[in-house]
This record gives sequence, C-alpha cells and structure tokens, in this order.
Amino acid sequence: MSGMAEKVLREIEESARRRYLPIIGPLRGGALAKLVAQLKPKRVLEVGTLIGYSTIIIGKELEHDAEIVTIEIDREEAEAARRNIEKAKIKPKVQVIIGDASDVIPTLQGRFDLVFLDGHKSEYLKHLKAIEKKLHQGSMVIADNAGAYAYFMRDYLDYVRNSGHYESRFIQLGKDGLEVSIRL
Ligand SMILES: C[S@@+](CC[C@H](N)C(=O)[O-])C[C@H]1O[C@@H](n2cnc3c(N)ncnc32)[C@H](O)[C@@H]1O
Repeated sequence: MSGMAEKVLREIEESARRRYLPIIGPLRGGALAKLVAQLKPKRVLEVGTLIGYSTIIIGKELEHDAEIVTIEIDREEAEAARRNIEKAKIKPKVQVIIGDASDVIPTLQGRFDLVFLDGHKSEYLKHLKAIEKKLHQGSMVIADNAGAYAYFMRDYLDYVRNSGHYESRFIQLGKDGLEVSIRL
C-alpha cells in the first residue's frame, strides 16, 4: 500500500473537517476498502468524486491492471481531485470526467465490475439504471449513505432489494452504512 495514499487521505480528512465536505470518511471508507480488496475489480465506475478521497480509498487496493472512471459535476472539485489522486500515487489508471453522470454514463464503453454510487441520493436509481447494461453477473454496486439518507434513496433501495436483479445487503457502520448489491 502506498504511504503517499495514506498521507493524502489524512490531509483530505483534515480539510474535510474544516470545510464540512461530505467525504465517506475512515469508518465507511474502511469497509469500502475491504470490499474492494475482496472483489479485486479491474474496471470501477464512481459517481461523485468530490476531491478524490473515495477514489484513493478504492485505488489503493488495486494494481496497475485496474482502471477507475470517476464522474464529478463540479469542475473545481474535480480539478482538486485530479491533483489529490496524482499526489497519492495509486497504481490504477484513473480518469476523472467532469460532467453530469446522467450525460456521461451513456458515453462510457465496456463493462464495469464495481460501481460506487455517491452523487445526489435521489439520483442513485437513475444512475444505476443508466449503468445497468454495462454490468455483468457478479458485478458489485455499492451505495453510500444507505442508512442516514435511506429516505432520500428509498426508490433505489426498493429496487436493489426487491427487483430480483440483485442480491443486496445493508452494512451498518455507525449511524450510516453501505448498501452492497451483487448483480444476479
Ligand atoms: C457525497 S459527495 C462525494 C464524496 C466522495 N465520493 C468521497 O467519499 O470522497 C457527492 C459529490 O457528487 C457530486 N454530484 C452530485 N450529483 C452529481 C451528478 N449528477 N453527476 C456527477 N457528480 C455529481 C457532487 O458535486 C459532490 O461532489
């Protein structure tokens, strides 16, 4: 694991405290890292880069043969993310795309082994539906804030739990948690 990645993560945690940035943080971030280490995805899509904290969490578990595509609607945050990701010296190739995930996802080529949803909570279902054709059996979809913000993503949670297309479980972490869904 890169020492620089850990250093950059601590710096982002510090600036997130000062600026009240909604990063995933060490508790849910630690659970995300474990899931990534188990799955070892080669292609990852992230929605909601912010300044790159969760991208680095995911990337530090992966090797040079992996690729992360991450989408951020806010140009300034995306540019800060590019700088942080560069500085963290993680091994995978990372592409930070500036734009609305709803416009960007249809332009993406190939399949994804892991999707991490962390944009606007009310848009999770829209983003999942947009990426669904690019998943395969066994692809994992992780949705952040599925505890504290469950109300705002109830259509999403109902879909992954009850559509029959996923096997889905909630991992409680403190007052919040991750919804982890495997494509059947
Ligand atoms: C909770 S923050 C992401 C935190 C980040 N994943 C982390 O843990 O470090 C949500 C981000 O999603 C971005 N966002 C919201 N809606 C989006 C959309 N439709 N497309 C792309 N990015 C979006 C916001 O600008 C914000 O930076």
